[in-house]
Amino acid sequence: MKARVFVSAPLPGPALAGLAGRAEVVVGQTRLGLEDPAFARAADSFDAVVTLLTDRVDEARLGRAARLKVVANVAVGVDNVDLEACAARGVVVTNTPGVLTEATADLAFGLLLCAARRVCEGDRLVREGGFTGWSPTMLLGARVHGKALGIVGLGRIGQAVARRARGFGMHVLYAQPRPLAEGLARALGATHVSTKTLFAESDFVSLHCPLTPETRGLVGGALLASMKPGSVLVNTARGACIDEAALARSLVSGPLGAAGLDVFEDEPKVLPELVLRPNVVLTPHIGSADRETREKMASMAADNVMAVLEGREPPNRVR
Ligand code: GLV
Repeated sequence: MKARVFVSAPLPGPALAGLAGRAEVVVGQTRLGLEDPAFARAADSFDAVVTLLTDRVDEARLGRAARLKVVANVAVGVDNVDLEACAARGVVVTNTPGVLTEATADLAFGLLLCAARRVCEGDRLVREGGFTGWSPTMLLGARVHGKALGIVGLGRIGQAVARRARGFGMHVLYAQPRPLAEGLARALGATHVSTKTLFAESDFVSLHCPLTPETRGLVGGALLASMKPGSVLVNTARGACIDEAALARSLVSGPLGAAGLDVFEDEPKVLPELVLRPNVVLTPHIGSADRETREKMASMAADNVMAVLEGREPPNRVR
């Protein structure tokens, strides 16, 4: 009998067709995910699930999926999965690291540039007929080149952002619990500092840490208040790393000058206070959304599923 695999939503590329040749695949509906009746009503019939970052895999759900052997998350972050509960039940969890590093760094840098140089405000102005003539004082923004960039979490994606920053002649500070090996930090031109120093001394701050109990709400009122006047905050990590209400206040009364946000505390909701601010660039969690990356993420998840179902070690086991 073929193994049964539930895939949370249609995925780009040929991965699902490949999987369907080797297992019985049921694909859920976009935005329903594991809430889709095709899964919810028959959870105990599936050997594997391919999940998205919007699917919550918790104890209650695992309890209804007694045959489950693997949760293959199509994301590098696994904060949507209760890893302890999976481990306790012997369910393997996999993710899709590496492949989305450069795509996410591209978007982070894009948000940084757009927020600093007011690209979206300019776009709106032109579309609304407000570009009635060139002016030397129109849409003056923040200089990027040569400024200090603080990276919170200098892992794969943080390092890819640091490499981009070097091309812009920026000085890179980074904060994370343990410093990188000396040679690697030197090659990236990155200096290890405390989180407090990073926020106080950077012109730009970009978050690249995973969401963990330690990083939840990491960027609150006190850190925001310590930032340089006119500084720019970029988040392509997880929304819950920032206290969004405090962020909105800092964007109104300073010191923050602008923000570029791809992720939000309670997606897909976005605080109205942020939506109303002209100095915020908003994107809908598209850090890894270039076609090649998303197709590769799907095929990695499919490979992880098949490895576990065939009794092999999956290439990307989280634990
Ligand atoms: C995207 O947010 C991911 O974790 O892959």
